[in-house]
Amino acid sequence: MKVLVTGGAGFIGSNFVRYMLETYPDAEVVNVDALTYAGNLENLAGLEDDKRYTFVRGDISRMEDVRGVFDQHRFDAILNFAAESHVDRSLHFGAEAFIQTNVLGTQLLLDLTRQHEVPRYVQISTDEVYGSLGDDGRFTEETPIAPNNPYSATKAGADFLVRAAAHSHGLDAVITRCSNNYGPYQFPEKLIPLMIANALEDKPLPVYGDGMHVRDWIFVRDHCSAIDAVLRKGRTGEAYNIGGMYDVPNIEIVKLILKHLEKPESLITYVKDRPGHDRRYAMDNTKIRAELGWEPAYTFEQGLKETINWYLANGPWLEHVRSGQYRQYYETLYAGR
Ligand code: NAD
Ligand code: DAU
Repeated sequence: MKVLVTGGAGFIGSNFVRYMLETYPDAEVVNVDALTYAGNLENLAGLEDDKRYTFVRGDISRMEDVRGVFDQHRFDAILNFAAESHVDRSLHFGAEAFIQTNVLGTQLLLDLTRQHEVPRYVQISTDEVYGSLGDDGRFTEETPIAPNNPYSATKAGADFLVRAAAHSHGLDAVITRCSNNYGPYQFPEKLIPLMIANALEDKPLPVYGDGMHVRDWIFVRDHCSAIDAVLRKGRTGEAYNIGGMYDVPNIEIVKLILKHLEKPESLITYVKDRPGHDRRYAMDNTKIRAELGWEPAYTFEQGLKETINWYLANGPWLEHVRSGQYRQYYETLYAGR
């Protein structure tokens, strides 16, 4: 199977590229990535000499960057991971880049998929398109789409474009909607790697608001195996929720990280809340389990341990991504919060 992965130099994309090449000896992967601040070729270190893997630097929202890739290869499937992915950036720096990549980029890929008659398109989406839950219940695939921040609004827009391409043009498209991922190679702007990185340096751990916002955590490798199941067996035109069913308040996650690293809870610092901060996400993953037989392999304990050990063993990776621009970003977002 030959697949196009977009955004394969990012966190989940790079884990997926590795997953495919490790799991299927006959897999071929072409990775198109623009290498934004979040794209990092170090995430793919060791694959350079693998003949089954090709990297192309390109922006999915620029036809001139992507058309040639479709002309050159005969793909069995397109998997669109490429996105501006960080909610805080969409709130603080504006939505333009999010609209460009997440909306325009998705439409361009859908057009090329159709023109080149690629048999399958997989859109990597998020639970955030459903908005926020109250104290009870979980998101199902029937929950109305109701995004609350610019990032999730662009992801919802992309989902609608995929739905429209399937409905109007008969494109064989499927959507995966996953909860919060954690694991190796995650950029330290997201909660878990940020808290690990700060704790390792005995820096304050900035918890937004009262720390009681709930996210549903899944180890990235379980997300990859779920995407693989949808790629191979998902029904055309369907969306599949993916989640670890481990939904807990942020403060609990932060305390667990401190415990693992044997650091004091006095490092926890409550800071000004994120504007419009979604209170609770929790996924109902019944459909993918029942229909496609997918099951997560990792408990949160196992996944967190593996993640922390990875960051401990990969100091240089963390140092590289935290230099220069990252410091500037951190200052802008957290100073005076
Ligand atoms: P990430 O920010 O780590 O990586 C995004 C990648 O996309 C980077 O390599 C970046 O260079 C690339 N990219 C950005 N704009 C591009 C463009 N115009 N053209 C080509 N490449 C471009 O993101 P992630 O956390 O790995 O998320 C991957 C996908 O999964 C996203 O679509 C995101 O919405 C979705 N998702 C993420 C999570 C999560 O918890 N991180 C959960 C559910 C869904
Ligand atoms: O739910 C899936 C989504 O998860 C993905 O679609 C997004 O791409 C991904 O970024 C993530 O969004 P969140 O906003 O949930 O993730 P983040 O790691 O930014 O924040 C997780 C929770 O932790 C959230 O409630 C905000 C809080 N938080 C985050 C940071 C960075 C803090 O309290 N302090 C922080 O410094």
